[in-house]
Amino acid sequence: MEAVSPTFEDLPPPVHVAIIMDGNGRWAKARGLPRVAGHQRGAEAVRTTVESCKSIGIKYLTLYAFSSENWKRPATEVDDLMGLLRHYLSREINQLNKSGVRLRCIGERQGLAPDIIRLIDEAESKTGGNTGLTLQIAVNYGGQNEILNACRSIASEVADGKLSIDEIDDEAFADHLHTAGVPDPDLLIRTSGEKRLSNFLLWQAAYAELVFVDTLWPDFTKDELLRVIDEFHSRDRRYGNTSG
Ligand code: IPE
Ligand code: IPE
Ligand code: MG
Repeated sequence: MEAVSPTFEDLPPPVHVAIIMDGNGRWAKARGLPRVAGHQRGAEAVRTTVESCKSIGIKYLTLYAFSSENWKRPATEVDDLMGLLRHYLSREINQLNKSGVRLRCIGERQGLAPDIIRLIDEAESKTGGNTGLTLQIAVNYGGQNEILNACRSIASEVADGKLSIDEIDDEAFADHLHTAGVPDPDLLIRTSGEKRLSNFLLWQAAYAELVFVDTLWPDFTKDELLRVIDEFHSRDRRYGNTSG
């Protein structure tokens, strides 16, 4: 195990970590396996990462599981990914609930299979009162669409006289996003060496520290997470101010 620098021991962990879990397909390809094998191993990495975040004391974890653009993939791969989601929501929920995890799904429900919507609703209501880690899974999620929907809903509240134009500030806007009530991510990690956001948390990531690692998602471990948190602690978060 790699040594963790003393800074990490002394400093509180980031409150909210968001992860673009990328590289499952390349992980499988490198082993001559079908892409679904990469997604299965990716689901294992989700389990360990949830455990790691709990043990480190992270309060919010947001995982990008399926983007609104991922429907473009071959139908068989979409089916495999939806099957893994079904499996996760039905088989893991009791364990997650027992360990105090509050699960929420962000993204558009519309477009998902009815049984998946039901599983999401059940998981959210079952775990809604938990106060441990809040795990947000982004499914059929796209940041631009989320912002557009917030604009539509704000516009209709203004039209109905429920909200005045002057009341539309950053807080009111954030209240209309899927992530309402959850603080913005402090740390946003993308695996697999790609350096883009791919429509993830476009509003919320305004001041997130971005860390890109070459590791493919199925190989992402707690040690690597600790190294990324070390990197986070070495950053000077100025928020537009001068450094103190
Ligand atoms: C991430 O791995 C999982 C999803 C996007 C659902 P990919 O499937 O994108 O893997 P690569 O990028 O092809 O290696
Ligand atoms: C982003 O990965 C979406 C998820 C991790 C769910 P993609 O693999 O879909 O992103 P692009 O296509 O490389 O931008
Ligand atoms: Mg990818």
